[in-house]
Amino acid sequence: MSEKKTQTKQDTTEKIVSLCKRRGFVFQSSEIYGGLNGCYDYGPLGVELLLNIKNVWWKEMTLRENIEGLDASILMHPRVWEASGHVEHFSDPMIDCKQCKSRYRIDVLFEMLSQKNKETIYKKAVESGPPGESVNSMDDAEGMFLGNPNLFLNELICPNCGNKNTFTEARSFNLMFKTYMGPLEDSSNEVYLRPETAQGTYVNFNNVKESSRQKLPFGIAQIGKAFRNEINTKNFLFRVREFEQMEMQFFVNPREDEKWFEYWREQRINWFCKYGMKENKLKLHVHEKLAHYAKAAVDIEYQFPFGWGEIEGIHNRTDFDLKRHTEYSGKKLEYFDDQTRERFIPYVIETAAGVTRSFFAFLCNAYDEEEIAKDLDGTSSTESRTVLQFHPSLAPIKAAVFPLVNREGMQEIARNITEDLRKDLKVFYDDSGAVGRRYRRQDECGTPYCITVDSDTLNNNTVTIRDRDTMRQERIGIDRIAEYLKSML
Ligand code: GAP
Repeated sequence: MSEKKTQTKQDTTEKIVSLCKRRGFVFQSSEIYGGLNGCYDYGPLGVELLLNIKNVWWKEMTLRENIEGLDASILMHPRVWEASGHVEHFSDPMIDCKQCKSRYRIDVLFEMLSQKNKETIYKKAVESGPPGESVNSMDDAEGMFLGNPNLFLNELICPNCGNKNTFTEARSFNLMFKTYMGPLEDSSNEVYLRPETAQGTYVNFNNVKESSRQKLPFGIAQIGKAFRNEINTKNFLFRVREFEQMEMQFFVNPREDEKWFEYWREQRINWFCKYGMKENKLKLHVHEKLAHYAKAAVDIEYQFPFGWGEIEGIHNRTDFDLKRHTEYSGKKLEYFDDQTRERFIPYVIETAAGVTRSFFAFLCNAYDEEEIAKDLDGTSSTESRTVLQFHPSLAPIKAAVFPLVNREGMQEIARNITEDLRKDLKVFYDDSGAVGRRYRRQDECGTPYCITVDSDTLNNNTVTIRDRDTMRQERIGIDRIAEYLKSML
């Protein structure tokens, strides 16, 4: 019945961005003032999709005996970020071209250098790199460049203006947003907008353990806003400055960390598949180079139209965080096992997903363009349709109700059906334009079912229900609509 059109990657991203604005999924922040870089507003359909993603994640996590929920504040004691390492390490080295004023993150700059320029760097790294560091490949040279960019300033050619030796020394740029608490803007009142929800969980470890009387292994799940002053915001919702995370920290006996790491890795990839992610669009990226606190780390990546990108990280963070907060706060964050009489600091297996990045991935995954027959029997000419094939649990609107024509009391019947369904579901009523146009509008919003009241309804109290993906219609009694939708959604 349908035939896929070939689309270029660039086209697809642009089409999705345009659909997001047209249909009310996502708007640029402060658009009427020219926008604010790296910030977005979620419109009427976007906010529903966002809530649905959070709801299915929250249910998945907390409808278990051993996971509790938490909602920690965004502003936290500044010592939290010293203990976590964010004050010291959460920064990107930046470098500026004095000639054309382009600013680059060091790793991005290396990627952008011409092959010839990279070879010059390689030669320089072999000849005069820091003592004790051997350079046998371009990867080694890149590693040395990233660690000591200032050694190579004379060799660098700006990828933008083409000038040589025009770069400033590299400087560290912390990604945390800073503000002041109280009326005085001095350094003793500095606080940060959290760059991740996780630290709110670590500092509440004792509170949750004691109030919920949980025994190991147990987890704490949290959904909330996070802020990062990213240098390179890019690819629409992929890398932004204000976003939401859904993170779960699972506290385990250190002897069982590997088992639970495997368990959560599998659970998390299954979760994305359960809600409709195409398996061939997902892959795991196992980290070879690990952060100093991590014992293992794997990313779940989605194939966006612009390439593969991380949507969730699963990390074995060992006892690093609880140990550091114990050290910095002076309060013990540990566990006493009353069976084995052992006292120890638990290890943490962390599942860290972006809500807004998952939103973008679910959107790309759902987006499709099809060439379809105008009539169901396939005999007439074709037309194209844009459809968002969301999993029904994620779809912003669950059903739309139409009167076929606006006479003979069809509107009233359709309105009554809408009101009845609205007690439980997000339902849209539409009586304007040709019915085919109304179907197309709902396809573009990802509405899984359209219910039409027609002349048969007047005779036998039945309606048609059209399935978004197959476009097939079936006729059922009005009294069965709610039950039908419940079984399908
Ligand atoms: N607590 C661990 C942590 O925050 P992360 O890999 O830095 O780990 C977890 O972030 C997830 O948060 C990422 O997989 C991504 O989905 C999302 N995320 C991180 N930075 C983001 C940004 N600038 N814009 C949108 N989402 C982001």
